[in-house]
Amino acid sequence: MKLAVRYYSRGGNTAKLANAIAGAAGVQALNTEVPLTEDVDILFLGSSVYAYGVDENVAKFISGIDVKVGKVVNFSTAALVKSTYKQVGKLLAAKNIPQAKDEFYCKGAFGPMHKGKPDEKDIKAAAEFAKRVIENG
Ligand SMILES: Cc1cc2nc3c(=O)[nH]c(=O)nc-3n(C[C@H](O)[C@H](O)[C@H](O)COP(=O)(O)O)c2cc1C
Repeated sequence: MKLAVRYYSRGGNTAKLANAIAGAAGVQALNTEVPLTEDVDILFLGSSVYAYGVDENVAKFISGIDVKVGKVVNFSTAALVKSTYKQVGKLLAAKNIPQAKDEFYCKGAFGPMHKGKPDEKDIKAAAEFAKRVIENG
């Protein structure tokens, strides 16, 4: 199965999840500046929320996808909202790219909020989540 991990992370929180997921998937976690160059079965796509929206880089990455993607598995960190699933889902729907029902989310540190998040437990959980997703195809 062909796997890829892309993420956008301004402060490093989502990057921690991306690296854990990439480790479980046996691929490198690359940022959304790096386009996909070949078809993939599963794309793990990481993002977070800045002033209620996902970063424009994530939208650009998705709109630039020109290979076949079996499904996108969303992962995200944020301080208040619960996930970027819906926002990313809209961007994917515009490209007819399927979004998996499963997602991974945890809180991300923001100023004095959620210090230390994602923590070791979150990072381990992200890796386990990715393994489960891959096993289930
Ligand atoms: C400029 C800015 C705006 C943010 N706005 C929101 C927001 O509207 N809602 C929210 O839940 N979190 C918000 N956050 C918190 C981030 O989503 C959270 O810190 C996230 O983990 C950042 O991920 P990153 O370190 O991968 O960039 C904001 C963070 C920044 C820096």
